[in-house]
Amino acid sequence: MISGLKFSARSLVLGLAAASLFATAATAGPIEDRQEDMKKVGKAMGQLAAIAKKEAAFDAAVVKAAGETIAESVKEFKNDFPEDSKDGPPETWAKPEIWSNMDDFNAKADKSVEAAMAMAAVTEEANFMPAMGELGGSCKACHENYRRPKN
Ligand code: HEC
Repeated sequence: MISGLKFSARSLVLGLAAASLFATAATAGPIEDRQEDMKKVGKAMGQLAAIAKKEAAFDAAVVKAAGETIAESVKEFKNDFPEDSKDGPPETWAKPEIWSNMDDFNAKADKSVEAAMAMAAVTEEANFMPAMGELGGSCKACHENYRRPKN
């Protein structure tokens, strides 16, 4: 009886230790977090690009969800550039210019969030391509200055 209790207390402790290890792995650091956010942005942008290229039909529900995902993810992304995250590991494609122009970087992020919210509000197909132009331009404006090309 008593040894049974001890055993379960011990497995509870081991279980908690495993749970906290897992939690650490899930939020590894700001570089992983911001890359994760940008991956979500890229995926949502892919859905919009499919509509733009007429590979998928215009669907206001898809447009709303993708626009909202981009807006939320860029908002979170913005907070993942502490001073000590200029270099990895893991490898980062963020340019050091971000930290010397943080106001401009944040302004470009805000502009992208705005364009994504405007995209989320599109309900008429006629308004889709202009919104797409604004949104795509907002990604490019930041990447041009603040992201090293991947290859
Ligand atoms: C305010 C600046 C900024 C804006 C706006 C921005 N990005 Fe990025 N993006 C970055 C930076 C910086 C990185 C590199 C992050 C790193 O490697 O640490 C990046 C990385 C990425 C990646 C690669 C993610 C990975 O690690 O595999 C994709 C895809 C991407 N962005 C898509 C987009 C799209 C699509 C938009 C517009 C809807 C957008 N980004 C808007 C700055 C921005």
